[in-house]
Parts: sequence; structure tokens; C-alpha cells
Amino acid sequence: MNRPLLIGPFAQLLPMTGLPLKGALKDEQLPIIENGGILVSEGKIRKVGIFDELKSDDVDIHHIEGDHVCLPGFVDSHTHICFDGTRARDYAYRNAGKTYLEIAKAGGGIWDTVTQTRKASQGELVQGIISRSKKHLKNGVTTIEVKSGYGLSVDEELKMLRAIKQANETTNAALVPTCLAAHMKPKDWHQDKDYLDVIINELFPIIKAENLANRVDAFVEESAFSPEEIKPYFQKAKEMGFDITVHADQFTTGGSQVAVDFDAVSADHLEVSTEKEIQLLAKSNTIATALPGASIGLGCAYTPARRILDAGGALSIASDHNPGSAPMGDLLTQASILGTFEKLSNTEVLSGITFRAAAALRLADRGKLEEGAQADFLIFPTDNYQEITYHQGQLKPSAVWKKGNQIKTT
Ligand code: NIG
Ligand code: FE
Repeated sequence: MNRPLLIGPFAQLLPMTGLPLKGALKDEQLPIIENGGILVSEGKIRKVGIFDELKSDDVDIHHIEGDHVCLPGFVDSHTHICFDGTRARDYAYRNAGKTYLEIAKAGGGIWDTVTQTRKASQGELVQGIISRSKKHLKNGVTTIEVKSGYGLSVDEELKMLRAIKQANETTNAALVPTCLAAHMKPKDWHQDKDYLDVIINELFPIIKAENLANRVDAFVEESAFSPEEIKPYFQKAKEMGFDITVHADQFTTGGSQVAVDFDAVSADHLEVSTEKEIQLLAKSNTIATALPGASIGLGCAYTPARRILDAGGALSIASDHNPGSAPMGDLLTQASILGTFEKLSNTEVLSGITFRAAAALRLADRGKLEEGAQADFLIFPTDNYQEITYHQGQLKPSAVWKKGNQIKTT
């Protein structure tokens, strides 16, 4: 074993430990270690505590000059960063007051990105993922979920999932792949067989054989798949051992009920969830994921995050980074803005992009700074953690560490 490395001291170290997975959180509950340090070896955290108490002859020291705050690497539990092309035209049309239907008629919407992504080679998709994950890393996101869903055929979905796997071998961020073949019904589907049956019978076995993903997502929405259509699909996916996650209640309700019925790991979007859906989610094991980037991109209401937390739900906050509804892709900016609109405490915002987001991906080894966890952490140039959300994403980490190594982010 290499000699452990002690990093610090930090004016404030936020381990994000000892906080519940579900429910509202007050800032008084946030554990803060002053003059903290973090001891790492072999990519893992060995100890977290007071810097001076962690010093010994057996450790090397990486000294941090000046006042800094250290906290876990951010986890973005919902993105679509595997795509090609742009949807700038959709954005302009939306802001000019055009309806969803008018935009789709003009060649926009998800199908436009499907067409553009199908034209890209696997290598081009890999490059796109790598350059987007570099940006996320620079902003402190060390783990990124990435969905397929712009292929919408067995071969094209495979191309996307293989690109995500290949990018994961190169980028310093950890990518968590999800199969979103059920993003919408492919407009060019002319086979007699049902599209979802083909995905189940032909795509899922290859995903398993090549170990391309262990999560399956679907867009449950009037314009995509109804609850009735998606239930047999999720049933089969569950039987094959996939975790379920759902694009739910974005424009119409129904998706969150399906998510809870299938014990999904998360139900994401929830912009139109009513009291009924909020209560349903709060009583379940399913993590509610707010996607403020989509609200900002579409000019729609925010997910009722305050009410979800007050009802006792678990809240993750993710960027939904995609070329259509959420082109910005800046998680900290979006989470901070959600905090101002939804009146979230700093602890709720930071939990939503650390350990609660990690739980939405069933990753028990990150989102917290504790013994045995991956040594993924961020260093912000301030002596007060409140500055982080206050600057709404403009205060960037001065250093990003992934698996015990400082990452070059420039
Ligand atoms: O999460 N809602 C469905 N899917 C994406 C949008 C994808 C797109 O517009 O390209 C979302 O917002
Ligand atoms: Fe999405």
C-alpha cells in the first residue's frame, strides 16, 4: 500500500455524513469540521477529521494554502450528454411562442436529435461525451449518469451505449449508463412487431452480455409512452435485473405512480406533480429528482422540491443536460437557482447533488466524505460554505479530486 496522503487544512470540511436520506434538512444539521483534513490512499478515503490530528510520520502531506471549503464531488444523476447536433432553433421557436406541435412540425423536438445522432459515428459520440464531461468535471461533477435514447433502434441504441462505455474508459469522470430506448416511439418504425418488444428481446440481452448498463429508463408521457404501454416493458426489465428509473410527471401526471409501483430507484422531472403524487413519492423508496435545467430551458414551473421534502421525500437535483430542454448543463448553477425559487436550505441543495444523488444511482461509495468512500472531493476558494450556492454557480472549485488524484480541469 502506498503511503497515505493527507490533504488540507480546510477552513471548513463538509463530510455530508449523518444526514437522513429523506426529508427536509436545516442548515443547523449540517456537520462542519473546521480546520479539517482528509486522508486518502489507493483512491479511497481512509479518514476525515481535524487536519492536525491526522498528521503523523506515516503520511505525506498535500498542503492547501489559504482558506478553502472541501466537500464531496458532485453527482449528476440524470443527463443525456450522449448526442450530436444542436436544437438552438427549438429554443428560439419556443421563446417566440411556438407550440410543441409547431416545433415538431418544423422538424424539431427529440426526433431532430435522433436524426442528428444517428448520423454521428460512435467515435464522434465518444468525443462529444468526453468534452461535455470535462466541462462537468471543471464545475465539480465527478460522477455523471448518461442516458441513451437518441438512437431509437436496436443498432443505434447500441451505438450510444457503446460510446458511453468507451468514453467512460477515457474520461476522469465516472459515467453511469442508462438505457433510454423508450424515449419516444420512433417515427420511422415500420415493422409489424411492437417496438418495445423488440427492445426487450433484441437489445436487452446484448446490453447484459456486453455489460453496457444496469438501468432502464422510459419517458412516461402522453407524447411518448402511456403507463399501460410501459408496464410490461418495466416488468420485463425488472425480471432481467435492471434498475428502473422514470421520466415522470413532466407535462402530465401518471409516471410517478408507475415509478412507485415498480419500486423505481428514481422518478425524475415531476414539474406537474400534485399533492397526490408528492405523497405517493414521499412514502416510497423512490427518490424524487428535480431537473431545474429543464424548467429553465423550457420556461416551465420548477419541480415542487419544497413540498416533496416537507412531505418526507428524498430529493436529488440533476442537470438533465440535453440539447433540447436543458442545454445549459451547469448543475451547481441550476441547483442554486432551484434553491432560491423553492426555498431550499443550503443543506438540502448540497445533499441533492451529493449523497442523495448518489443514492438515486444506488452508489453507496460516494457523495459523502467518510472512511471507505471513493476519494472524490472538491475544494472551493472560500472560508464559508454558504458562498457556494450564493454565487449561483459562479464560484468554481479551485481543485477537483477523483479517486484520490487531483484532476487537471483546464
Ligand atoms: O428529460 N423529457 C424527455 N426527455 C428529455 C428531453 C430530451 C430532448 O428534448 O431532447 C428531458 O427533458
Ligand atoms: Fe431527461
